[in-house]
Amino acid sequence: MSGRTPLVAANWKMHKTVGETEDFLDRFIGEIGDLEAVEIVICPPYTSLSAAVERCRRSPIRVAAQNMHEAEQGAYTGEVSAGMLLDIGVQGVVLGHSERRQYFNETDEALARKVAVALERGLEPILCVGESEAERDAGETEAVLRRQIEADLDGVAAEDLARVVIAYEPIWAIGTGRTATPEQAEEAIAFIRSQLAGIDAGAAEAVRILYGGSVKPGNAAELLGREQIDGALVGGASLDPADFLAICEAAKP
Ligand code: 13P
Repeated sequence: MSGRTPLVAANWKMHKTVGETEDFLDRFIGEIGDLEAVEIVICPPYTSLSAAVERCRRSPIRVAAQNMHEAEQGAYTGEVSAGMLLDIGVQGVVLGHSERRQYFNETDEALARKVAVALERGLEPILCVGESEAERDAGETEAVLRRQIEADLDGVAAEDLARVVIAYEPIWAIGTGRTATPEQAEEAIAFIRSQLAGIDAGAAEAVRILYGGSVKPGNAAELLGREQIDGALVGGASLDPADFLAICEAAKP
């Protein structure tokens, strides 16, 4: 037993209108029953955040955004700040998802600022890291993870580290149906934890490190049963309330 509370997050990416968000949550919240032992976070697109916050108000589910800008306000067309998210009751934010790094030029420098601002403002950051298939094949997985962790957490004070959630998402496993084996996921996560121990050994033991990449009801139990894997960041399978519930159930300690 690690003593860390499992956390399962639904990254809906660019899916679900307001109506679809409400339908999902009405069905999902009606079914969660005795899942107090698992923390659940829903990350809808910006347009559905308010509706999700409203629907989750009397439930233990937290709502997080999928990105934010590091500035408080300013001439940044199309961007949203931490203050704006807090204003509507959002409690967390996914940062550095590989799709944002790949398609929107998200840099480690910007991420370091975003993580710092999220912590300063009291939003729970879910920081995504992970290697590409070419990097894994070249034996560079640990070097990539070390570089991302060092750069993205640059400036995070040791006393704040435990409030960061990290998601290990190997890019080759995202949306491909190709899941990392529990051994591969656990090995990478243990490596990430060893890197965090360089910042603060106690906090490194407390940080939740999730696995993400083609998590489904059929493979969740073997992944989430591993000592080092503290939960999941789920894409495709989180769009269906029954599938997402089954994954949350599999995270029960
Ligand atoms: P899939 O679960 O669809 O592979 O997506 C994983 C992911 O990117 C979660 O952030």
